[in-house]
Amino acid sequence: MIWFHAMRILMVSSEVETFARSGGLGDVVLGLSRALAQLGHEVCVVTPLYGTTALDRPHHYWYGTVPVRVGWGRGDVREVGVCEISELDGRLRFCLLTDDYLFGSRGGIYGDVRGTFGDNEVRFATLSRGALEIAARLWPDGFDVIHAHDWHAALSVIYARTTMGERWSRLPSVFTIHNLAYQGTLGEEALDRLGIPRELMTWRALLHEGNVNLLKGAVALADLVTTVSPTYAEEIQAPADGFGLDWFLRAHADKLIGLVNGIDQDRFDPATDSRIAARFGVHDFAAGKWENKRALLQEMDLEESDAPLFGCVTRLTDQKGIDLFVETLAAIVERGANVVIVGTGDRRLEESLRRAQMRFPESVAVRIAFDSALAQRVYAGSDFIVVPSRFEPCGLTQLYAMRYGSVPVVTDVGGLHDTVEPANTARSEGTGFIAVRPSVFDLLVALEDAIDVYADRLGFQELRLRCLRRDSSWENIAHAYVQQIYARITSPS
Ligand code: GLC
Repeated sequence: MIWFHAMRILMVSSEVETFARSGGLGDVVLGLSRALAQLGHEVCVVTPLYGTTALDRPHHYWYGTVPVRVGWGRGDVREVGVCEISELDGRLRFCLLTDDYLFGSRGGIYGDVRGTFGDNEVRFATLSRGALEIAARLWPDGFDVIHAHDWHAALSVIYARTTMGERWSRLPSVFTIHNLAYQGTLGEEALDRLGIPRELMTWRALLHEGNVNLLKGAVALADLVTTVSPTYAEEIQAPADGFGLDWFLRAHADKLIGLVNGIDQDRFDPATDSRIAARFGVHDFAAGKWENKRALLQEMDLEESDAPLFGCVTRLTDQKGIDLFVETLAAIVERGANVVIVGTGDRRLEESLRRAQMRFPESVAVRIAFDSALAQRVYAGSDFIVVPSRFEPCGLTQLYAMRYGSVPVVTDVGGLHDTVEPANTARSEGTGFIAVRPSVFDLLVALEDAIDVYADRLGFQELRLRCLRRDSSWENIAHAYVQQIYARITSPS
């Protein structure tokens, strides 16, 4: 018998693509939510309306405000507004939580030019609690599951489970870790300010090394915890990648599941992408790639050349291993390669990139920028995309790269391990080059292999075609979320 149970799913996230994003989190929340709605489920995505949010789609404001309690005091209630955007006949709704003081007046998601905001815990507590109140208004007769992303949304699991009464405490919840490096660590005094019950301050729940740890609390209280690749789910249970919580994740291993991310293959499609120099598909990719390469070299002020072109698009943080890549530049430039790097972040890393560009002005071009259109042109124009991460929960760059026919050169960690298979041109297998460890030496070995294969024109074109043919769509992954995650906690087993 075929049956279909349409679920009502509440997504809570600090970033949602097209509105506000700083990295992959926003892409994933949008991609998964849309795919779930396309499967017939009802999805409500709650995220703040920041001063920097792009609101260029038809929207309407809810009538009146929604009271959101954060803290125990009489006055600890904020009246927030809701700006709604809907898609797919209302099956997918984005409810942007509006609060001028906490979000609207801020020039960034987590911080602005002056640094990280000092009240982020209150801002994201308001998001977390507000999301629950919004869902209650939207679905007065109830909904099926809370799906909270990263520490900013952890409190929606914690509040529902502990402070909102019996009905809420039984609501199934899923918590997804996109990056264990960020845990929401606060001093003990935050408990009262955020209205968190003191009983939760035990090693079994929020207490971690004398502090309140919101991510740990959500791991303790959610019915299932997911992360964005099976390998990362394993890695975080070991001390080297556990950021102090490996023992706790091991203790909860039976509810920890890794599912690889997808990408939006309609929005990222070289056959229709208007941001790239020339459009191409699997049948005419050789000419299309060449056009895009020429345009990219020109845009980056490098001379037109048929030499292998390595691209890199990244946030500049230690995680991303850009310092390792910088150390390899002299050697690959020596072998004739060109390099384009686009990213922003850590000042120290920005500086070292500027120095590299000065050292190799004819071969290395750097743009210190967060520029998604340029990112797409780098995917389209490069022969290879380098992702030298020290750890990588999933990583989306390698998926975008393959979609645009760029061959990934990656370290063998997390989601990179799960999405890139080692290239073997003799056997016509694989999709990329893999550095065994995140070290300068191993990365250089992988880069040199890539240069060798580039010289074998036929082998390289076949490799590129295998990348172009990889299916990274959300549809199957959304199915897996429904079957392996939501159905497991919402239906009596
Ligand atoms: C974080 C991770 C990245 C992952 C993304 C989306 O940014 O660092 O690996 O792809 O979240 O899940």
